[in-house]
Amino acid sequence: MERETLLSLAREAAQHAHCPYSHFRVGAAVVARGKTYVGVNIEIASYGLTLCAERSALASAISAGAGPITHVAVACIDAPEEAPLSERTPCGACRQWLADLAPDAVIYIDGAEQDFSISDLLPHAFRL
Ligand code: THU
Repeated sequence: MERETLLSLAREAAQHAHCPYSHFRVGAAVVARGKTYVGVNIEIASYGLTLCAERSALASAISAGAGPITHVAVACIDAPEEAPLSERTPCGACRQWLADLAPDAVIYIDGAEQDFSISDLLPHAFRL
């Protein structure tokens, strides 16, 4: 799947984000054996239990019995256009999920020119 197509799926998914506290909508889309799975950030009143879009998309793929995840796209649609990369990249917890569940994926970040691998984002990741 094309980079731009996957990023636009992530942007579309972000429209369904449930983020009544931060109002910061995030969408993620992943590809496995040509199928796509999406996720959004989901916030609840106990803020620390918030689920990020990346983990939501990975959970959706795994729950559907997806094959190896080859591509991941993330879109923070409320980040201002001039926002630095650090306001668009996956958080630490999501990086570890990616390292475990999508170790060979190419990672596209909306608004970033560069594509990433998990080792770019999480060098020396914990593995068992
Ligand atoms: N968020 C994500 O969905 N993914 C990340 O990797 C970083 C943060 C969400 C969590 C929260 O709902 C909102 O963005 C603001 O932190």
